Amino acid sequence: MSTTRTSDLWWRNAVIYCLDVDTYLDWDGDGVGDIEGLTERVDYLAGLGVTCLWLMPFQPSPGRDDGYDITDYYAVDPRLGSLGDFVAFIRTAKDRGLKVIIDLVVNHTSDRHPWFKASRAGQDSPYRDFYVWREEPAEEPKSEPVFPDAEDSIWTRDEKAGMWYLHHFYSHQPDLNIANDEVREEIARIAGFWLQLGVDGFRVDAVPFLLETGGISGAEELDPHDLLADLRSFVSRRNGSAVLLGEVNLPPDDLVTYFGQENGNELHMLTNFPIMQTMYLALARRESQPLADALRALPEIPDDSQWANFVRNHDELTLDQLTADEREEVFAAFGPEEEMRIFDRGIRRRLPPMFDGDQQRIRLAYSLLFTLPGTPVLFYGEEIGMGENLDVPGRLSVRTPMQWDDDPSAGFSTGKPAKLHRPVVSGEFGPMAINVKEQRGRADSLLTWMQRAIRRRKETPEFGWGRLSVLDSGDSAVLAHSCRWEESTVLAIHNFSPEPRVVQVTLKPDAEGNLALDDLLDEGSVVEAEDGILELKLDGYGHRWFRARRPGRPVTP
Ligand code: GLC
Repeated sequence: MSTTRTSDLWWRNAVIYCLDVDTYLDWDGDGVGDIEGLTERVDYLAGLGVTCLWLMPFQPSPGRDDGYDITDYYAVDPRLGSLGDFVAFIRTAKDRGLKVIIDLVVNHTSDRHPWFKASRAGQDSPYRDFYVWREEPAEEPKSEPVFPDAEDSIWTRDEKAGMWYLHHFYSHQPDLNIANDEVREEIARIAGFWLQLGVDGFRVDAVPFLLETGGISGAEELDPHDLLADLRSFVSRRNGSAVLLGEVNLPPDDLVTYFGQENGNELHMLTNFPIMQTMYLALARRESQPLADALRALPEIPDDSQWANFVRNHDELTLDQLTADEREEVFAAFGPEEEMRIFDRGIRRRLPPMFDGDQQRIRLAYSLLFTLPGTPVLFYGEEIGMGENLDVPGRLSVRTPMQWDDDPSAGFSTGKPAKLHRPVVSGEFGPMAINVKEQRGRADSLLTWMQRAIRRRKETPEFGWGRLSVLDSGDSAVLAHSCRWEESTVLAIHNFSPEPRVVQVTLKPDAEGNLALDDLLDEGSVVEAEDGILELKLDGYGHRWFRARRPGRPVTP
């Protein structure tokens, strides 16, 4: 096994955990989570087994897009702590062997950023060209605003400047002008700053919008992908093992171009939105077929690149790549009420309530997450099966305080519930029923299952490195896939139906003799595949993982 390479490219077999400092743990009792609180929980995270933390934006911000509207890239929001606290956190995380990546939000700034204030002030301002200004809204880009509930155009007239500026997101988030070399320099400086403070890379926000040059005068000659290639070289010069994980929600063939045309010289990892969306379609239909087809159609990716898979992120569960009919199917199954949906394209619920708390089905979805080719990304609270609070507006419904115990403030804060930065979940999925404390010692809890699954996933690098094959299970409800890497093959089998199934999976057509398979979830047991055919019973929504016994190699313990 190329151990050197696997540890250099640590992110190919990582388990990433995304969290927002302000909803994780409030250490000083003011109702807002803070970096000290997060630092306090680093041991919990290390114990869970995740290997990389992704921190959502924690820089100063007016908070009109939950921190994705930054006013100073070189500081920490004083509500959350100081740069000193940040460095202490990084030091603690490193000590426990955790990597840390942070959001790099440079498609836009807040309209209260000093650059924008200066830019508006006049034609002569040195910051004028930091943003995209036009006398009249331009024809290009042809995009619709990302948040159609709040904006009806991507151009807004600024009275002070007497001109129109571009913003793909909210009008209080003016887009930076990436055709301006000074802006590019500044982006590198921001990345360099945080790398110097010890981060291991970035989750690059809104990449296709960042690269959009339509509407920028004189940018016709520019290849915006150069920006990513330059960023990649810069980041790698500063820290050879740093990673760039890009948020790119595009169909597969467009998506892969963001890995870079020249053998992967742009983003190391891309969020796999197409697979995520098809997975929900398959789960809604209780049929594996859509996912099997999507996996078969996944384009090749360059060496030393990786997919980042997820079940749920901090935004709406977007279904924009499905057809209108498919989207309706998923809405009907998982977001039947209007208030559960958003932007006509997504669902603002977490997974467990969508599955009515069905523990087997929840585990099925996370077992897929851990075994699909790529690196799994968890969103905080998924390890215990937290739900959402639909009374919290918009996408924030899934960004409620982490549920540590059954206290009315969820053990998130010593402050009273009414004083919290954001209300906790109420009802069935609230802290009384769902919390870390209760699940820690319980052998059949989701948290215990997650811990074991994460541990096994880390011990099974074939899922992160291997070559995928979708196998014939003979049953359209059952997905069987294998990943082969360096002479070793692992296998995962998932039953999308609530009914038990007996399947025959063909592992090796034409094989003679028996093949021993180590059961990776039921430790110590071995099953035999006779003449390359594995006959298996699966529970309703059941899942199994195996490693084919390698001749001459030790047994998987
Ligand atoms: C990304 C973030 C989202 C944010 C948007 C604008 O899509 O995931 O939360 O609102 O970018 O920064």
